[in-house]
Amino acid sequence: MIEEPSALQGVLDDTLEAVDRVSRETAARPELREYGIVNFVGQGIARVRGLPDVKSEELVRFAGDLLGMTFNLDPDEVGVVLLDDCTGVESGSEVWRTNRILDVPVGEGMLGRVIDPVGRPLDDGGPVSTHSRAPIECSAPSVMDRAPVTVPLQTGTKVVDALIPVGRGQRELILGDRQTGKSGIAVDCILNQKGKNVICIYCAIGQRSSSVAKVIADLRRFEAMSYSIVVVAGGDATPGLQFVAPYAATSMGEYFMRQGRDVLVVFDDLTCHARAYRELSLLLRRPPGRESFPGDIFYIHSRLLERYTHLRPELGGGSLTALPIVETEEQNISAYIPTNLISITDGQIYLTPDLFQKGILPAVDVGKSVSRVGGKAQPAAYRAVAGDLRLFYSQFEELEVFSRFGSRLDERTRQTLARGRAVREALKQPQFDPLPAAVQVAILVAATAGLFDNLAPRRVADASARIRETLREELPHIADSIEAGAQLSDLDREALLKLAEKAIAWKQPSP
Ligand SMILES: Nc1ncnc2c1ncn2[C@@H]1O[C@H](COP(=O)(O)OP(=O)(O)O)[C@@H](O)[C@H]1O
Ligand SMILES: [Mg+2]
Repeated sequence: MIEEPSALQGVLDDTLEAVDRVSRETAARPELREYGIVNFVGQGIARVRGLPDVKSEELVRFAGDLLGMTFNLDPDEVGVVLLDDCTGVESGSEVWRTNRILDVPVGEGMLGRVIDPVGRPLDDGGPVSTHSRAPIECSAPSVMDRAPVTVPLQTGTKVVDALIPVGRGQRELILGDRQTGKSGIAVDCILNQKGKNVICIYCAIGQRSSSVAKVIADLRRFEAMSYSIVVVAGGDATPGLQFVAPYAATSMGEYFMRQGRDVLVVFDDLTCHARAYRELSLLLRRPPGRESFPGDIFYIHSRLLERYTHLRPELGGGSLTALPIVETEEQNISAYIPTNLISITDGQIYLTPDLFQKGILPAVDVGKSVSRVGGKAQPAAYRAVAGDLRLFYSQFEELEVFSRFGSRLDERTRQTLARGRAVREALKQPQFDPLPAAVQVAILVAATAGLFDNLAPRRVADASARIRETLREELPHIADSIEAGAQLSDLDREALLKLAEKAIAWKQPSP
């Protein structure tokens, strides 16, 4: 028997209403969540029973809101990396799934903040005010999405900008023994971005809290926090937190890059990062390889640094520049982690304790440093002065070593040595004093033209300071054109030399 269509409609309406009610009721009910039981908890890791459907790198929660991240998914056990200090957690306690891959807050609200790698504030600025989050791991932009590196990233350090220039979107390693000024160069680079519309992220990994506090104080003192984010996983943090720190910092930077902004990220340092990963891997019984590092140690650093690039204009043209720091032992740059990173990055700035002890600061060894892509991005005016400066400087360093043995030198050698020493003196620079491109070019023009030959070191420093004081006032158009990336004309060069001569002759008025 066929019922009336109107009756059918009524049945349908009733059914729909019932479905609607059920779905409303289930939404109000607490969701079902999976939990596991802690089998073992030790320094930095835990092993958990249960959790059959948990995903790799999923965030899990222990009692007391303590966080962990799943790492090893074995059939009978899940290896969890602890992100918090879980000394209170006992075996037998519960571990809850969050159904979330580890992510971090991203956005403008992060600027000026000091946070840990999962986005919890470490300063007294209250909760972080952002609405978006991004996973800490994401695939790197494809080759087709990348543009060549063409815009300079001025570090403000003469020896770097003139001889080992860095471009926006480049990955330049800073490597050297402890206490050679690695962090110093990176922090100066952040200070130099003031007013240049570059967002800076300083990511501390495994550093002593006193060093981190000093960097934060320096950034505050020079008013660099307004455009910076500091991500801290100090030496007292769990190895898990240290391991995720650089990925988290990269995701925070990527957010700005995708909006077409320029971002600089400093990792201080990746040696500690590698050690944290080694510790976790050994604890989780992954097979060790060379120097006890796990086999995928190259991969974890390459997948991090591959995310750094300059995007195509169609994608906003933003850039993500990396200055990873690596600490060497006894100047051994051919150790495992340093060679890995040298091969992943687009060049390295190498600092040595020998130069540091001689007072040649920044202690950059020009011969062993290289920038594989930054040269194309260097402001044109540098090329006029620094064209063969690199070659000249390396030759001078070699000559200096040999001339130590012989006392009788011909006139030309003597002159080269004098010029080389003058250039070296002109390249010296104290910390916290980044210089604009125009001032750097003016000083280098004077040094390479021989104006500083045979001057006492003190007088070179004074003359350089005077050039800095007077350049903007006396030759504003030249300063502007250098900063804008224009070539240095012969007339400009003459004018800069005149200014330098005046600066050398200038005597501080006695009080
Ligand atoms: N250009 C410089 N001029 C003078 N002192 C410097 C310079 N660069 C670094 N220093 C000093 O050298 C010491 C070590 O520097 P730091 O950057 O902490 O080294 P690293 O990070 O390599 O361990 C610090 O006391 C710092 O103040
Ligand atoms: Mg350091």
